[in-house]
Amino acid sequence: MPNLFDAIRVGAIDAPNRIFMAPLTRGRADRQAVPTAMMADYYAQRAGAGIIITEATGISREGLGWPFAPGLWTDEQTEAWKPVVGAVHAAGGRIVAQLWHMGRQVHSSVIGGQPVSSSATATKGQAHTYDGKQDFETARPLDIDEIPRLLEDYENATRNAIAAGFDGVQIHGANGYLIDQFLRDNANFRDDRYGGSPENRIRLLREVTERVAATIGADRTGVRLSPNGDSQGVDDSDPKSVFVPAAKALSEIGIAFLELREPGPDGTFGRTDVPKLSPEIRQAYDGVLVLNSDYHKDDANAAIEDGRADAIAFGRPFISNPDLPERLRNDAPLAPDDMKTWYSQGPEGYIDYPALETATA
Ligand SMILES: Cc1cc2nc3c(=O)[nH]c(=O)nc-3n(C[C@H](O)[C@H](O)[C@H](O)COP(=O)(O)O)c2cc1C
Repeated sequence: MPNLFDAIRVGAIDAPNRIFMAPLTRGRADRQAVPTAMMADYYAQRAGAGIIITEATGISREGLGWPFAPGLWTDEQTEAWKPVVGAVHAAGGRIVAQLWHMGRQVHSSVIGGQPVSSSATATKGQAHTYDGKQDFETARPLDIDEIPRLLEDYENATRNAIAAGFDGVQIHGANGYLIDQFLRDNANFRDDRYGGSPENRIRLLREVTERVAATIGADRTGVRLSPNGDSQGVDDSDPKSVFVPAAKALSEIGIAFLELREPGPDGTFGRTDVPKLSPEIRQAYDGVLVLNSDYHKDDANAAIEDGRADAIAFGRPFISNPDLPERLRNDAPLAPDDMKTWYSQGPEGYIDYPALETATA
């Protein structure tokens, strides 16, 4: 049976191991969502990952409300990604861009207009903005005539990802963002063909995936979903009824990989008693299945050896252990990460976590 350290072919991408880097927002771009030079160092330091999935990256101003997160909708952003991707490739790595539309999880002061969603809903609590935290506002439902434009935005970002040299893209369908706001029934109250039945709620995910796959190739397209439990106020009364057919639809499109963020009852970053759906999704989806949340070496290896997953995505461990695959291989101690620098703008807590050789030197 394969384990974490075995190579795997992921669509058109050859990954030398099954230790993937989960998408991690770090807030080191500039206010125009243009990547900065230190992002090249950060990602190159982590090139030992089987595949790096980048931090969530905006497909449009409308879709990007996280302060200092990067985008992929302008030429300037695209140009600035080139040295980042180039540095990862020069270090022997592979990197796919996570494409992000946050839907209602934004504040108007950042996106310059009313947030959009499937329906007129608001997230409880406060949004991160350039002026501290501010209350979430009620979103404007996307008009059905705006969906073609939204699909154009995904295509444009995908074209820019190709131009920047990325090995692929991952559509962010998880964590309560726009696609998830269409998928789950506590956020989607539409009465058109994008709302109501599971088939209708899956439609946007399907159309986005088809468009992205037509642009970059299904074999370079990944998707991330978070099927079990509440994500930033977005939840479903019967997850199986929507996420199993969604996985089937993605299987038919033939995407390269599907990644599931599945918190458990004892999760340390999100937790839920809603059971994980990966066993059912494993049956419905034929491609490479990547699982995430709270994995350590032993349970990650067990998931792969038992055939429950093909690869595991590690999030927080990659923040503080740039050489995570080597550390896992050698059973070396893992350095703890520091929450205070997760989203701070400087190099501190970003590119100053040493690799093992340097740490022990
Ligand atoms: C600082 C931070 C930023 C994150 N940013 C993203 C993101 O941009 N996109 C995403 O899909 N998930 C994001 N996540 C969730 C992680 O990808 C992952 O699901 C989570 O950390 C659980 O995995 P872990 O237990 O291996 O850390 C983020 C998590 C953290 C801690």
